[in-house]
Amino acid sequence: MTLRELAQAGGIRVGAAVNDVALATGDPEYRSLLSTEFNSVTAERVMKWRFVQPEPGRWEWQPADALVDFAAANEMEIRGHTIVWPVMGTPEYIEEITDPVALRSQLTDHMEAFFSRYRGRIARVDLVNEPLHWLEGRHFGHVWLDVLGQDYLAEVLTIAHDVDPDIELWINETHSEVVPDKHARFSEIVADLVERGLPLHGIGVQGHQLYPDFIPAPATPEQIHLAVNTYADMGLEVAVTEMDVLAHPTDPDRLDVQARIYGELVDAALSVDACREITFWGVSDAHTWVDEHFGEDRAPLLFDRAGEPKPAYHAVAAALAARAARTPTGEAA
Ligand code: GLA
Repeated sequence: MTLRELAQAGGIRVGAAVNDVALATGDPEYRSLLSTEFNSVTAERVMKWRFVQPEPGRWEWQPADALVDFAAANEMEIRGHTIVWPVMGTPEYIEEITDPVALRSQLTDHMEAFFSRYRGRIARVDLVNEPLHWLEGRHFGHVWLDVLGQDYLAEVLTIAHDVDPDIELWINETHSEVVPDKHARFSEIVADLVERGLPLHGIGVQGHQLYPDFIPAPATPEQIHLAVNTYADMGLEVAVTEMDVLAHPTDPDRLDVQARIYGELVDAALSVDACREITFWGVSDAHTWVDEHFGEDRAPLLFDRAGEPKPAYHAVAAALAARAARTPTGEAA
């Protein structure tokens, strides 16, 4: 069975981040791997604010439309990614705003245009991406915090819900599972939003395992379980939204080690019922952001450069099968 069939048997989503260039070339193998193995997609770049509205009022819809059309044609779900990404996704013309009224108005206009274009086709959105420092339990300084204030997450959630009361609103965070201080701080922030009744649907645990280049070791299954379970206990849905696992270049067993990590982490996340999605940050090692950032030999994904399944693929398949066996939906794949 494919990953897609196994996920569907368990009533969950298995997703991949889509590279717009690979999709645009029409490469039949890329398209067929995507639609056979996955039932959900996330845009790797083209729905981010600085791509979709690079200048005020100038919209670059075409690459996002192409992804939405592909997903519809193949009956796949879409995770919208992302509206407010304080550190890397906010264009300069927004970063320069100092007046809260002007910032709110840009945010509202952006969401009105984006949500209405894809209404009914994008069910969920990573409304805020990476609110905290990558590796610490504190904020980066940025325009949203500086201009809207400490409570900007609540304000962004409220505005988004007013614009579209139907779309699921998610906050997506990185590395909180592997940094205890960050986990503690982020959990407090999320708990506060939930207690105040803000329209937060779910938490994305990105799940990048960028070791040894960026973090000393991958998350343990216990850490992933704790993170997922913490938000589940607050009544939220949880997803692993951007998983990739670096294969250590000098380890001769690297693909087996990678498979073990993938299998254990996916299994730990899916042991919590409220976790209903695992998305990988790419399809095959032929297209991955890791090449540029950490070197071309880290082979972080489930398929190799030729599109053949790696040991990691089989480990993930086993974890999806275990979830399906535990929570069978009877749904046809
Ligand atoms: C973050 C973002 C993603 C992507 C990755 C890697 O995790 O959320 O959109 O940019 O970094 O590039």
